[in-house]
Amino acid sequence: TTIAFGIFIIAYFLGSFPTGYLAGKLLQGIDIREHGSGSTGATNVLRTLGKVPGSIVLLIDALKGALAVTIANLLFTLDLFSTLPVDWQAYLVPLAATGAILGHSKSIWLNFSGGKSVATGVGVLLAMSWQVGLATMLVFSITIAISRIVSMSSIVGAVSVTIWMLLFERPLPSVIFAIVGGIYVVWRHSANIQRILAGTEPKVGQKLESTT
Ligand code: G3P
Repeated sequence: TTIAFGIFIIAYFLGSFPTGYLAGKLLQGIDIREHGSGSTGATNVLRTLGKVPGSIVLLIDALKGALAVTIANLLFTLDLFSTLPVDWQAYLVPLAATGAILGHSKSIWLNFSGGKSVATGVGVLLAMSWQVGLATMLVFSITIAISRIVSMSSIVGAVSVTIWMLLFERPLPSVIFAIVGGIYVVWRHSANIQRILAGTEPKVGQKLESTT
């Protein structure tokens, strides 16, 4: 339990690194949470600060997630946990993945606010299973090509993860992670879902006036 908790905490702190918030402060002296959707994620950074900051935040946020999972994987292969029952070991990587995702959207440095865990989630998935990561990115890309709405593409992508985990025959803990993580990411998009239903969710390149 101590090992599992340790891995979770390391992953949480990695995910907590407030990339989008720092970008707002450093580049324009603003609190990104008071602009656009109020999210510190790459989409809101793109919308508020522009393409280059948006791309850099996307990359760093994805790397945070990938790093958290890679560290857990590494510890796993180092065989440090051979004393743990095998069933338990298989949960360590999904646990790190959960920690990173939670850290990103409930950052300890931002009063437990943050982003919507999409970029970090993609990084996590690519490190867990590149096939699942790529397939999810494909779903995201197709949806955004059709809808031009980032949040909708994130939601469809998040829901698709469980299907990919099953199709690529990933172990049960990874499937459970996909279900729980998928529900979490959809829940983080509550405000977006309301705007989508009301027809007011901005498309790529459009501004979002009201802050939620
Ligand atoms: O990356 C999060 C995206 O799905 C939605 O972001 O800022 O439009 O709420 P935003």
